[in-house]
Amino acid sequence: MNQPVHILNGPNLSRLGRREPQVYGTTTLAELAALCSGWAAGLGLELTFDQCEGEGQLVTWIHRAGDQAKGLILNAGAYTHTSVAVRDAVSSISIPVIEVHLSNPAAREPFRRRNLLEDVVYAGLRGFGVDGYRFALEGLAARLRLGSDP
Ligand code: DQA
Repeated sequence: MNQPVHILNGPNLSRLGRREPQVYGTTTLAELAALCSGWAAGLGLELTFDQCEGEGQLVTWIHRAGDQAKGLILNAGAYTHTSVAVRDAVSSISIPVIEVHLSNPAAREPFRRRNLLEDVVYAGLRGFGVDGYRFALEGLAARLRLGSDP
């Protein structure tokens, strides 16, 4: 049976494809969702893919992932750098969470070097563009196959 995994995207990722394409590329969110669903199916994962602009909605969906999914891939966007609530939500669930960013925030403006999630997630992928989501799905599938090691 396919393992349920969730991908959650935070604020402004709805504008992918139009938003600073030199930083985030030209793939739209709808195209990214379709790519992820193909990659997930190939890995035996059953995917739920969502995006929201609001912090509270993101927190609610992180809780939902903790209750319903075997793993979570999270691009919290700017909340990565600001939100104690998103950090606490990640800490409150016990499934592996993989943090993804299209760009490498640490190589950009100094305020993006602050990351409130990096020490509460299972792993992180930054700077690979949309391929980061594929690598995260592959990593999650491998992690789920291995069980709880390491
Ligand atoms: C982002 C990086 C964040 O710093 C930024 O606020 C985003 C997108 C990324 O995917 O590269 O909204 O998470």
